[in-house]
Amino acid sequence: MKVIRTEAEWNPIWAAIFKEGKQLGFVPTMGALHQGHLDLVSQSTASMDYTVVSIFVNPTQFNSSEDFQNYPQTLEADLAKLKAARADYVFVPSVATLYPQPTHLRFDFGDLEHVLEGAFRPGHFNGVGLVVSKLFHLIQPSRAFFGQKDLQQVAVIKRLVQDLSFGLSIEVVPTRREKDGLAMSSRNMRLNPEERQQALLLYQQLSQAKERLLAGESWKQINSDTAAAFATAPTCKLEYFALLHPETFEIFDTFTQEDARSLCIAAYVGPVRLIDNLPIIA
Ligand code: PAF
Repeated sequence: MKVIRTEAEWNPIWAAIFKEGKQLGFVPTMGALHQGHLDLVSQSTASMDYTVVSIFVNPTQFNSSEDFQNYPQTLEADLAKLKAARADYVFVPSVATLYPQPTHLRFDFGDLEHVLEGAFRPGHFNGVGLVVSKLFHLIQPSRAFFGQKDLQQVAVIKRLVQDLSFGLSIEVVPTRREKDGLAMSSRNMRLNPEERQQALLLYQQLSQAKERLLAGESWKQINSDTAAAFATAPTCKLEYFALLHPETFEIFDTFTQEDARSLCIAAYVGPVRLIDNLPIIA
């Protein structure tokens, strides 16, 4: 496994892969890797000739400087995990490499950025759009792998790829959960034992809501029960709980079984903001 830090180092490697006519898979990450990331890597290594993983904590996608400062960074451990997962290349650029000058370009993802993560984290998807576009241009993969846990990010990236005609395909990999259901996230490392226990509320509410919706209960009632469950949880603060279309992110007040529907949730558990989602009808 080779660690690459600059575009100049990467370009001849890419040219050789291209010349061989081989397929390059790409897994963009912000490091602090867990099994969910490694699932993306193994999907890539299983289907592509070469796999490159990027590790870059992207400053432009954080709408809070405290969140950026506290984002876990575990480079040595990450590199060991990627080596064991048989990644071929790891791209670890500096901020100056990806942002040699301040960026003036602004993305507008339409309706997608006015709801849920877009509404609660202003500027977040602009930063994701910027860094993912830069990485796609630099790395030039044939396929890129993203986790379903960041469902709205997946919708944004699919729009980016389509609207800007990036010649690559996007593969979405199911959310990896701990045994008790908590969705794996780099942010889970910041939870103390009590908060880790409280964090189960997100998945519990998602799965109960799914069951109740499929049993014919009203979304309005389920939604208000979830708000009540969070209101009484000592360290949790619910930001949103929504029923929506998983690609357009159109939000619904009532549930019908006719089309794809997902539930999305975001909440603070202590100081840590967590998100999760569950497809009801895929
Ligand atoms: O999902 C993430 O870890 C990040 O948003 C991404 C896609 C690597 C862009 O920084």
